[in-house]
Amino acid sequence: MAFPPQETVVILGTSRDDGNTWGTVQAVLGGRPVEVVNLSDTRFTAYDYRHRNEGDGFLPLVEAIVGKSFWILATPVYWYSMSAQLKVFFDRLSDLITIRKDLGRLLRGKSVAVVASGTDEAIPDGFEVPFQRTCGYLGMKYVGTFYLPYGKDDCASSSHLEAARKVGAAWISTQRTSENFSHGRSWRLWPLRAARY
Ligand SMILES: Cc1cc2nc3c(=O)[nH]c(=O)nc-3n(C[C@H](O)[C@H](O)[C@H](O)COP(=O)(O)O)c2cc1C
Repeated sequence: MAFPPQETVVILGTSRDDGNTWGTVQAVLGGRPVEVVNLSDTRFTAYDYRHRNEGDGFLPLVEAIVGKSFWILATPVYWYSMSAQLKVFFDRLSDLITIRKDLGRLLRGKSVAVVASGTDEAIPDGFEVPFQRTCGYLGMKYVGTFYLPYGKDDCASSSHLEAARKVGAAWISTQRTSENFSHGRSWRLWPLRAARY
């Protein structure tokens, strides 16, 4: 099932805003107007058992995206795993089963896909496990991972880019209406970046 662009959000966790992972996201989106959260621009810290950071940007971020039915998590492969930015986001999901269970319950039934880039030809063994298992724990539906390998010159092959476009078409509908950006004002409180045509 393909999700409308306005029900989709990309959560980008990379150390290079305009790098290969962002390029992969753009290939998958294929110009569809999907909003993007750049975790590098979002202020929240690592999980704290004592929740001394509950006033940082994490909970407001989740409140802003919890209305979206389809989350695309975008990450480079760094040392055979997800990026640190995305891992901190994952660890903070623990807040949603402790101090904000009300918010955590709203995750149930949402769909999650992963977009990853790397230089190895294939995604590392076990890379998908944290995504599959975390989605299972939280009652979210894991759709799958799309991996795009880049050469040493940071270029992707045309066949891989075509595969990205096909995955995007399977995940996100092409519906383009004037309401695509008619979200409530709260959306603009975070550094959401609209993908350009
Ligand atoms: C710290 C670091 C670790 C990396 N580890 C891997 C790895 O384990 N496997 C891999 O295929 N590529 C690895 N790479 C290469 C990146 O995954 C690849 O260049 C990716 O497309 C970069 O995406 P970005 O531009 O969004 O950072 C690593 C790069 C860095 C900077």
